[in-house]
Amino acid sequence: EHRPLAFDASILGFESNIPSQFIWPDDEKPCLDAPALVIPTIDLGAFLLGDSLAVSKAAEVVNEACKKHGFFLVVNHGVDSGLIDKAHQYMDRFFSLQLSEKQKAKRKVGESYGYASSFVGRFSSQLPWKETLSFRYCPHTQNIVQHYMVNWMGEDFRDFGRLYQEYCEAMNKVSQEIMGLLGISLGLDQAYFKDFFEQNDSILRLNHYPPCQKPELTLGTGPHTDPTSLTILHQDQVGGLQVFADEKWHSVAPIPGAFVVNVGDTFMALTNGFYKSCLHRAVVNTETVRKSLAFFLCPKLERPVTPAAGLVTAENPRKYPDFTWAALLKFTQNHYRADMKTLVAFS
Ligand code: SIN
Ligand code: FE2
Repeated sequence: EHRPLAFDASILGFESNIPSQFIWPDDEKPCLDAPALVIPTIDLGAFLLGDSLAVSKAAEVVNEACKKHGFFLVVNHGVDSGLIDKAHQYMDRFFSLQLSEKQKAKRKVGESYGYASSFVGRFSSQLPWKETLSFRYCPHTQNIVQHYMVNWMGEDFRDFGRLYQEYCEAMNKVSQEIMGLLGISLGLDQAYFKDFFEQNDSILRLNHYPPCQKPELTLGTGPHTDPTSLTILHQDQVGGLQVFADEKWHSVAPIPGAFVVNVGDTFMALTNGFYKSCLHRAVVNTETVRKSLAFFLCPKLERPVTPAAGLVTAENPRKYPDFTWAALLKFTQNHYRADMKTLVAFS
């Protein structure tokens, strides 16, 4: 039987000798039982019904959370639970393939879409203990997810592509609704960010974290802020997401049916820094595979990211220069852990 030369996660999972590229420096090693982060829950259905009391309450709660750390939960979002379950189940079908099969979708250097694995020998350090499959999603390009998948993997994966196409469409709808709420919460028109993001160039990333014999030495995803605008995450029941708030790491417990929503750097810039994009990471465990689905809402590639006029004042002058998502995306591909501070330097 042909086995790829590269070491692979299924073997590593049962070894106690973790290759050094996966071992993080002492001050970044994870705390596996971090205290829970208290984050507010938004009832999106109640907000959408438009009752003025429900709307102002939701806006107030979101405003407070986004000024502090940029994380909140969304329930009653109208996304079919069967679709979410399937989106988790279908992941197994791809990630359980032989490495040589998965490599058909291999992410090319300088690209953001396709299959990426830390388990294929790389001369690097602080590698994430995971494999990912990422798709490009644009609401105005019909069946884009399906086309990418069929191009990479062939006709057998058409239904797979169709499922994630459907998932992206659901996420796009939810993200537009949240953009309405975010606009209101900043005292802007409900349509302000909806218009900005009606056309978008977004990303869906499937995260697959194999078990690890030494989770105290490794990280599934290292600490980072999302360079994107808004992230809608669905994590399975295993748990592992952690957020850095109030100067320490906290865990975000999985809640079935809820989405974890967080602000990314690009949205922080659109709000002129009023809303925060904050550090987060994912830990792994010895027992089970962990899976998560992250939908990253992003602007159109060439559209200038400039803050809403009403958010630039004498007391709160411009914090970041104008940039395009295309430029930031390119920058993050070449720089590990870019953030808005480095963006200011790069602009
Ligand atoms: C990420 O933030 O990139 C991953 C989060 C997760 O898997 O929970
Ligand atoms: Fe993230």
